[in-house]
Amino acid sequence: NKIVLAYSGGLDTSVILTWLKETYDAEIITFTADIGQKEELDGLEEKAIATGASKVYIDDLRDEFARDFIYPMFQAGALYEGQYLLGTSIARPLIAKRMVDIARKEGAIAIAHGATGKGNDQVRFELTAASLAPDIQVIAPWRSEEFRAQFPGRAEMIAYAEKHGIPVQASAAKSYSMDRNLLHISFESGVLEDPWFDASADASKDMYVLSVSPEDAPNEAEMVELAFEQGDCVAINGEQMSPLQVMETLNELGGKHGIGRIDMVENRFVGMKSRGVYETPGGTILFTAHRKMESLTMDREVMHLRDSLIPQYSSIVYNGFWFAPERLAIQALVAESQKHVTGTVRLKLYKGNIIGAGVQSPLSLYNPDIATMEADPSQAYDQNDATGFIHLHALRLKVASGVHGTSVHGA
Ligand code: ARG
Ligand code: SIN
Repeated sequence: NKIVLAYSGGLDTSVILTWLKETYDAEIITFTADIGQKEELDGLEEKAIATGASKVYIDDLRDEFARDFIYPMFQAGALYEGQYLLGTSIARPLIAKRMVDIARKEGAIAIAHGATGKGNDQVRFELTAASLAPDIQVIAPWRSEEFRAQFPGRAEMIAYAEKHGIPVQASAAKSYSMDRNLLHISFESGVLEDPWFDASADASKDMYVLSVSPEDAPNEAEMVELAFEQGDCVAINGEQMSPLQVMETLNELGGKHGIGRIDMVENRFVGMKSRGVYETPGGTILFTAHRKMESLTMDREVMHLRDSLIPQYSSIVYNGFWFAPERLAIQALVAESQKHVTGTVRLKLYKGNIIGAGVQSPLSLYNPDIATMEADPSQAYDQNDATGFIHLHALRLKVASGVHGTSVHGA
């Protein structure tokens, strides 16, 4: 019997490793995806073996994450509930996909994860597994009554770890939970559960990892140029870069200037509201630059059509339906919409702000001759045409107000 466990090396998944081994009398193969969580990976293999893993996978998925997950999602302009750039949501399908691959290769009967029964992550893992490997069983210890009875709190887990010789870090327990990857860090629970708690106050300064507070950002603004080809950022300040390099470079820049902190109460798929604080420095710059690139190069109706799909697309990603047909269908439309999104955007970064400082493109649809308030040398637009245009659009409004009176229209 083999089980593949999504393993982070933290207390939870370490305890789960041992618990699975005992409960299922199984060989536990751990899997950890390197998706840019940095130092959390140090010493992980030794730790997994010491905790009893029979085999350890630590796979660098950073390039794939940036290229095949983050980039397509940014083409779509995804933003959940108007604020969240979906940093955790987009990582889960990749992790689950790789887990399923490993499970197949190893002939495992199940995959297991340490997500709680109250969150979105369990849904994302398991919907991905359902799409890619309907035959593989999923074990979610946190949803097992037995497991929860055995571990009502951290103290019981620490005691269990000590009893089983599981190496636990001496680090003091944080008063919030974190999830880090190439796109963001999320902070949730603990002190953050009170939505009136001010996480931007000086007292919370130590929580942040990727960014400084806008107050502490440099007093000098910094310019940055992002070059796009067909909706993807391919160069920064003239230097060609891979999607991974773009994300790393923008994280550095954005973090330095206090960009991309979001504090929100969001609607989890499982029904409850939850308060989250996010640091998405690079993603916030990319998102803004991409929109500006589109503003110059994208047809109006194509843009409005794609924009109308953003709330739906974002919910699809948030809810864990990355590998579902509706996401793929919208993605195809999005890809078509990006064909001419090519050019360069210049931005000024200053104390948490991203200020537009110019945009240009060989495929620009902006025509100053047509838009100008001066005499139009191109003669493409005849102002007399606007009279009839307005008359026709006004017709139904005039008829309706004649019939209903003007007051029903809020006048
Ligand atoms: N609320 C965010 C989301 O659902 C972040 C979740 C963080 N997950 C975690 N295991 N800490 O996407
Ligand atoms: C968890 O429950 O594991 C974290 C929160 C979430 O998935 O939304």
